[in-house]
Amino acid sequence: MATPPPALPAPRTSSRYAVALVCLGNICRSPMADVVLSARVEEAGLADRVSIASSGTGDWHVGQPMDRRAAATLTAAGYDASRHRAQQYAPTWRDEFDLVLAMDGQNLVDIGGADHRVRLFRDFDPLEPGGEVPDPYYGGDAGFEEVLTMVERTAATIVAQLGLELE
Ligand code: 4NP
Repeated sequence: MATPPPALPAPRTSSRYAVALVCLGNICRSPMADVVLSARVEEAGLADRVSIASSGTGDWHVGQPMDRRAAATLTAAGYDASRHRAQQYAPTWRDEFDLVLAMDGQNLVDIGGADHRVRLFRDFDPLEPGGEVPDPYYGGDAGFEEVLTMVERTAATIVAQLGLELE
């Protein structure tokens, strides 16, 4: 039987649930997860109670739109990738968000390690829980497709958990 997904930490304030997604550059993985999770939250009717943000531990791309390959992959799958602008992760995010999800193990180390509100995004992956979202930046288009597939199935589980937490 599949392992059940982890329980979500309780929200800091009862009315809203704030989720942060963190990668290295904030132009590929965490923006893709941000767009997909936001779309799923909207579809679930939770948009007024859940906020999603993303950032990168590095500052190289601050202010830039998504990587064009990430955007093309999202657009082909029917998502709107046009609104993203990269921002850098700040240590205060750990104290502000209800849940902070790192795309890979190095991202998790770089933001100070796991605790009850801070963990790997793919801890919620129903297929391979606890894995990393591999960095597609230096690879080909297939890497972006792979990220989208992982992100879509993981986002579905996170939204189901948010629905339970906020019901
Ligand atoms: P991301 O991918 O962390 O998924 O946004 C990267 C984007 C840019 C760089 C590294 C990874 N970079 O070194 O500029």
